[in-house]
Amino acid sequence: MAELTLSSKNPTGVKVDALVVGTQTTSDGVAVVGDDLPRDVVAELEALAPALGITGARDEVRTVPAGAHLKAGVLVLTGLGARDASGSFPAETLRRAAGAAVRELTGASSVAVALPAADEAEVAAIAEGALLGAYSFTRYRETAAGAKATGPVATIEVLTSLARGAKAKAAVERAATIAAAVHATRDLVNTAPNDLFPAAFADIAKAAAKGTGVKVTVLDEKALAAGGYGGILAVGQGSSRGPRLVKVSYSPSRPHAKVALVGKGITFDSGGISIKPAKGMEAMKSDMAGAAAVLHTVLAASRLGLPVAVTGWLCLAENMPSGTAQRPSDVITIRGGKTVEVLNTDAEGRLVMADGLVAAIEENPDVVLDVATLTGAQMVALGTRVSAVMGTESVRSEVVTAAEAAGEQFWPMPLPEELAASMKSKVADIANIGDRFGGMLVAGLFLQEFVGSTPWAHLDIAGPSFNEGSAFGYTPVGGTGVAVRTLVELLEARATK
Ligand code: BES
Ligand code: MN
Ligand code: ZN
Repeated sequence: MAELTLSSKNPTGVKVDALVVGTQTTSDGVAVVGDDLPRDVVAELEALAPALGITGARDEVRTVPAGAHLKAGVLVLTGLGARDASGSFPAETLRRAAGAAVRELTGASSVAVALPAADEAEVAAIAEGALLGAYSFTRYRETAAGAKATGPVATIEVLTSLARGAKAKAAVERAATIAAAVHATRDLVNTAPNDLFPAAFADIAKAAAKGTGVKVTVLDEKALAAGGYGGILAVGQGSSRGPRLVKVSYSPSRPHAKVALVGKGITFDSGGISIKPAKGMEAMKSDMAGAAAVLHTVLAASRLGLPVAVTGWLCLAENMPSGTAQRPSDVITIRGGKTVEVLNTDAEGRLVMADGLVAAIEENPDVVLDVATLTGAQMVALGTRVSAVMGTESVRSEVVTAAEAAGEQFWPMPLPEELAASMKSKVADIANIGDRFGGMLVAGLFLQEFVGSTPWAHLDIAGPSFNEGSAFGYTPVGGTGVAVRTLVELLEARATK
């Protein structure tokens, strides 16, 4: 990850490849904003802006020559839109503007960011956005040179008069820890499924936890069979690469709360015997984004030293069609004894998650949150940038509040009781599919059958976890790392409760 430092240097004198400043839309045009920029530079840019088509709108990034007054190589103008009623820019606007500018600078080595920050929280937002934007996935690029040309920025200096304060330093350190967790989550999602299968994922979890004090326990197929994990086993039985359940525990002394996180980790979802159409199937390498987010949230909680006990459960399987695969009409038994008639092998996420939820709840957490790329219906309902959250009303609100503070979009959705009847099975306790309409809610209702009375929220991140379009703000193409920031924020909130 890029190295980030705070500095109180004047932007005029910084010798960097690129200097990032803000542009703002005002009632009479565009204003250039950034702490301590020379007046004549600002005046010149503002005069040129209309001819250059610079409006100051959000998501607008323009690179111009730095001119003789500045020591930087180029000047990058990133749009902040209009100030809000209180005269400031929302934290998420600063995050995105910093991220968009840095993201466009792949190949540049040093960048200084001089965006307006009124307090430490805004400095942290700028730092976090810049780091989130400084990402690229180069693992499979042939040459080192190729990797460098497409690689992210190496050093980022955030210029602010608050640089010397301990509060700003701490806030930026937290931002760097969170950005690193998001990057690591993206890397896992972007990794090709021939390299990332359940056992490989389990090994990565072990390696990542090494030296952190986070404990990783891996249940292989034998252990899963002994423990009655019929959902994970059934989904994994079609693949030559067997399933795993990985338990990742961070246990600080005298925790203020005990939180369980369950992640869907289908390392590739072909649909199984109910096979998916070829078009777009490649995106199903991202069907483990929930498990990746859970792993790196637990590790981030440990790095931040949060006084909250967090246990992550990674439900890992590869959903493949084969002579050993489960069939539509198979009846399986989830841990704890409930039977499920599998009417569609492509509704596999809920089967592995049911086992994970039961295991998580056996340890009596205060709250359980599950994160899954569970349904295509999530995208029909909310699109590709807004995730859904369902479950116990108070926990659902807690997630929405945490997401707002973290700069992610989670929208509350209901679990209408009457839809549950559509999952009635002719032979088993429940079927794994129901009404097509409200498919996301049906999946949520299925999971609800396995959580009993434990306070619970279900996060469906199907669309937002994997960006199949073009990059925007600090969000790259491919894995986005969504849910990590919201979950860390929620854990921090529980810590102070
Ligand atoms: N992994 C998919 C959901 C998904 C689809 C995630 C597109 C991200 C992008 C899930 O396992 C699935 O296939 N769900 C089915 C359920 C259906 C068979 C009831 C779906 O949504 O079509
Ligand atoms: Mn599926
Ligand atoms: Zn799936």
